[in-house]
Amino acid sequence: DRSIKIAPSILAADFAAFGAECEAAEAQGADWIHVDVMDGHFVPNLTLGPAMCKALRPHIKGVMDVHLMIAPVDPYIDAFAEAGADVLTAHVEAGPHVHRTLQAIRAAGMRPGVALNPGTPAEAVRDVLGLVDLVCVMTVNPGFGGQKFIDMGDKIRALREMIGDREIHIEIDGGVDPKTAPLVAAAGADVLVAGSAVFKGGSVADPAPYGANIRAI
Ligand code: DX5
Ligand code: ZN
Repeated sequence: DRSIKIAPSILAADFAAFGAECEAAEAQGADWIHVDVMDGHFVPNLTLGPAMCKALRPHIKGVMDVHLMIAPVDPYIDAFAEAGADVLTAHVEAGPHVHRTLQAIRAAGMRPGVALNPGTPAEAVRDVLGLVDLVCVMTVNPGFGGQKFIDMGDKIRALREMIGDREIHIEIDGGVDPKTAPLVAAAGADVLVAGSAVFKGGSVADPAPYGANIRAI
């Protein structure tokens, strides 16, 4: 399914109301919910872990899309499976054995994704495309929401070509807004993560702006 899917990143939501924020985002038209896991080591920020994902599971009807910005990954795979993650994405830069990691994610019952930092070429994931359901192209350096979009159009087009007719999503993460979304969609992306562009201007008490923001992307 290559239709455009919007995946709000709850990194830009109210941390004290994550359950209600996920419900509000879905009610306002979110297709997937994107959960950013950071370890203060692979990226210079700390967010949340599998216990929070497990607590959010009953508040998310659709796809829980978990983006791991952690290293190592392997010791935590079972915990995220147990937490109910649907898609579990690991960075290709997170360790020397991404092939093993992606196999382990599949074996644990989740859909594996592989993410690339802006400085990593498309070529770096060629030999694991047979193992994944999703490739996440970072259009910011991971660690924080609200950063400026970095154009990765050539990388997206190269990946679409490499993927061919396989059923693999191309997800874009970072700086997606009504201006940048059409560019990445035209280059071949189908899952658009958006944090600040979705949650700005609204709240759980007044979530209507989320809907307007989603429709504007
Ligand atoms: C960045 C995270 C993103 C981030 C996107 O490290 O992986 O998911 O929340 O936020 P925006 O849409 O505000 O750039
Ligand atoms: Zn993310």
